[in-house]
Amino acid sequence: MCGIVGYVGPRQSQPILLAGLSRLEYRGYDSAGIAVIDGGGDLGMRKRAGKLKILRDDLTAHPLSDGTTGIGHTRWATHGGPTDANAHPHLADDDKLAVIHNGIIENFSELKSELVAEGYTFRSETDTEVAAVLLGREYREAGGNLVEAFRMVVARLEGAFTLLAMHRDHPGLVVGARRNSPLVIGLGDGENFLASDVAAFVEHTRRALAIGQDEIVAITPEGVEVTDFSGDEVDVEPFEVMWDAAAADKGGWSSFMAKEVSEEPDAVANTVRGRVKDGAVAIPELDGLDGLFADITRIIVIACGTAAYAGVVGKYALEQWARVPVDVELAHEFRYRDPVIGPDTLVVSISQSGETMDTLMAVKYAREAGAKTLSICNTQGATIPRESDAIVYTHAGPEVAVASTKAFVAQITALYLLALHIGRVRDALTAEQAADNVRELEAVPAKIQQVLDREQSRIEQFAHWMADTRSVLFLGRHVGYPIALEGALKLKELAYIHAEGFAAGELKHGPIALIEPGQPVFVIVPSPRESAELHKKVVSNIQEIRARGARVIVIAEEGDAAVLPFADEVLRIPLAGPLFEPLLAVVPLHIFAMGLATAKGLDVDQPRNLAKSVTVE
Ligand code: G6P
Repeated sequence: MCGIVGYVGPRQSQPILLAGLSRLEYRGYDSAGIAVIDGGGDLGMRKRAGKLKILRDDLTAHPLSDGTTGIGHTRWATHGGPTDANAHPHLADDDKLAVIHNGIIENFSELKSELVAEGYTFRSETDTEVAAVLLGREYREAGGNLVEAFRMVVARLEGAFTLLAMHRDHPGLVVGARRNSPLVIGLGDGENFLASDVAAFVEHTRRALAIGQDEIVAITPEGVEVTDFSGDEVDVEPFEVMWDAAAADKGGWSSFMAKEVSEEPDAVANTVRGRVKDGAVAIPELDGLDGLFADITRIIVIACGTAAYAGVVGKYALEQWARVPVDVELAHEFRYRDPVIGPDTLVVSISQSGETMDTLMAVKYAREAGAKTLSICNTQGATIPRESDAIVYTHAGPEVAVASTKAFVAQITALYLLALHIGRVRDALTAEQAADNVRELEAVPAKIQQVLDREQSRIEQFAHWMADTRSVLFLGRHVGYPIALEGALKLKELAYIHAEGFAAGELKHGPIALIEPGQPVFVIVPSPRESAELHKKVVSNIQEIRARGARVIVIAEEGDAAVLPFADEVLRIPLAGPLFEPLLAVVPLHIFAMGLATAKGLDVDQPRNLAKSVTVE
């Protein structure tokens, strides 16, 4: 939801800004722009509606003179459509000041009226330009002190924002402020960076500083100064980025999504790595935090999108292994319905980005209500883990494609580790039971690899044949149910096809009316060995839809012959315990959605209207 990058140092800034923006494009891609203070001390700016490529081509055709201080922005429109005028940067103070913004300034119309009454004029419909004009006014008021002017501006703003600005009179200085939107500092040698996400600068430095809530940062080539909104200096937390630039590159893959699906085995393996000792779960981040789990009477999992479906899978494991009642809630619903929570509640948030505003607000709400909070997150230095009592990072590596894939399996893995940990802390599991499950979890990466090796090209082939399909249904039961929901969501996101996931048991209560001859239905079938009862029921469901002409595509365990007479296609997954099947069954569905979107000629990395990190409510 808008990507931001800033640079000061000895190098020409344009290539650094453009490379940074291309790594942040997942955050929004309806327009992009940069501003640079050039060698002659002038401020140059270029911005274009459309993807970053349009800006890049424009800059190639009509170069902007370069300089060593610059800011860049890639946008996901909120206020004002995706036009050149609404793209960032926005200029103020007689075009000497450039401002970029991520978030929503809620009181912008009130501020705008105030500024219009004073005679200021506006060139866009954005809330950002209001902040820019206000900053221009306060800059004069503050006698040309940009940091001071920022302090005056942030005191007037309501809502969520990361703002970056630079002024022609101060080459070598970029100032930023944040509230409820992300901003990290990259520390180089004689150069420094600001960005929404470390991906923007990781090719230059892996040393980073996470900036806290309500803080202002000023970077120069020589140093970094962070103060709070009242002007007091604050200590910032340094961290080392755990992956290098190559991890966020497409490599030889046709898309980031193709690469990320191929990394699903590693996402699970890396999330387990370092968290198992002598066969038992030992999560270093939770050392000394047993108190968080000892007295809880319930767990509420909050998340959005794919992360929420990972949460539903996690619920089955948490209840089975930790014997604590679990509810899974969409963060935006939880936050606004006056939920009954207190010190006996553990709120587990799940977020790949760690920045999803709905989830962040729900975590803050839970904390204020006295609940304990634990964050499962894939992004170091992100806001949600900083706002939580405990963190369990997923180690999926950078996920660039907008729709989440490898982070999903990593989130389930982290939830399983957590469930086993809580199960042991609360004595709900014996050491032996926990060790058996750890062994199963450790075997998952190789099994996912088998699914990829054996089924990928076949799935891509029939996805290709199904390119004209207008509607696909997904059925699952038990842990297969959230996988059906995830299969449907992925198809909607990537291929823009009507898709719905249902609990297979619910079929007869309504969805069966949708079945007509030729309707494709994916069915996730539980193991006949491990879940004989459920298996029988799902096979009956298959017969019911088959009898009504559905085209049935079954995801079933190797050797399950019972499904053969009723299936048009059978996709095989290796044998696994019931709770481990979702980690395997989801892989064909990710491949299918990606394959069908590719067959339709769509951009699987940047689907229309979506953004990866949704930092507005
Ligand atoms: C967006 C993305 C989804 C993602 C969801 C939650 O809607 O398009 O792929 O699942 O946000 O994101 P998070 O970063 O909180 O996991």
